[in-house]
Amino acid sequence: MGCFPTLTLGIETSCDDTAAAVLSGRTVLSEAISGQSHASFGGVVPEFAARAHQENILPIIDRVLSLAEASGRGLGRRQLGLIAVTRGPGLMGSLLVGVETARALSLAWRVPAVGVNHIEGHIMAPLLDSDVAPPFLSLVVSGGHTEIIRVDDVGRYSLLGATRDDAAGEAYDKAARIMGLPYPGGPEIDRLARAGDPRAFDFPVPFKNTRAVEFSFSGLKTALLQQVSGMHGDLPLADLCASFQRAVTDALVSKTELAVRQTGITTVCVSGGVAANSALRSAIASAAPRVVLPAPSRCTDNAAMVALAGYERAVRGLELPPLVPDPSLSLCGRAI
Ligand code: KG4
Ligand code: ZN
Repeated sequence: MGCFPTLTLGIETSCDDTAAAVLSGRTVLSEAISGQSHASFGGVVPEFAARAHQENILPIIDRVLSLAEASGRGLGRRQLGLIAVTRGPGLMGSLLVGVETARALSLAWRVPAVGVNHIEGHIMAPLLDSDVAPPFLSLVVSGGHTEIIRVDDVGRYSLLGATRDDAAGEAYDKAARIMGLPYPGGPEIDRLARAGDPRAFDFPVPFKNTRAVEFSFSGLKTALLQQVSGMHGDLPLADLCASFQRAVTDALVSKTELAVRQTGITTVCVSGGVAANSALRSAIASAAPRVVLPAPSRCTDNAAMVALAGYERAVRGLELPPLVPDPSLSLCGRAI
């Protein structure tokens, strides 16, 4: 028998965002996020990220608990029934801050705590704002992951295909660096691409015609680098961004369509930071009879998705994984 926590506190510190959220059942009562600016370093610096988490985590948790109390639902922090925290995959120093904070709060408040797989959190994100239920296919596209996962139920996942090299978000970030754009590259490329011609440059769409669900983005990055290296003067940024984005989007959409055909599963949920991309959001809509996209703020890392993943496990009576950080935690039997 599962337990039915009234309130769940979610904590997310796997990479550079410190986030917390409070859920009442499956409803988000409050959420807060403190992003770090790594733009000047061109990427996330693990040591810097861990220190910032340490500074931010308690004020953020305090804020979401106060906001939940003030939400007018008559719920105080004494109704807290579960703490859910990301335990991996991610950066060790970052994960440790969240996990140790959850452990301390769990002991002090005598509330059970569960370690959540960050990817399971992304898979759950579309369920926060819609009535979608398994079975569905989950396209997870983030800075560290590009996978299509078959979700038969909470806790029952099979990996249909993944990237062979760079993740889609990583490709965006590397492409941005090649073009001299700030980190993170995805939102910047998305913005610049709006004024560009997606056919201006004929960048390759890797594995487009293979019969397997698989991705590769490193060749695309090299094609962009070669193109840019041969150019003089100001770069045609809008056209480069639009063409690069078209190639990434084509790859993601065509393999999602293939996975739908191969499995016969007609509902697709999309999540992870790249799911905030405007071109992907419009192109993926026709990949399956039902496509569910979370709000852009729930595509990127957030704590509401972590709270929901912990809650769904608790109500089903599933094993509550221990509070042990694991930077290469796997979801489907192998590290993905
Ligand atoms: O899920 P997320 O916040 O963190 C990870 O778990 O990795 O994803 C971050 C990634 C970054 O690579 C960022 O460039 C990308 O998501 N991203 C986007 C957009 N917003 C964020 N990529 C394309 N278009 C966007 N609008
Ligand atoms: Zn993520």
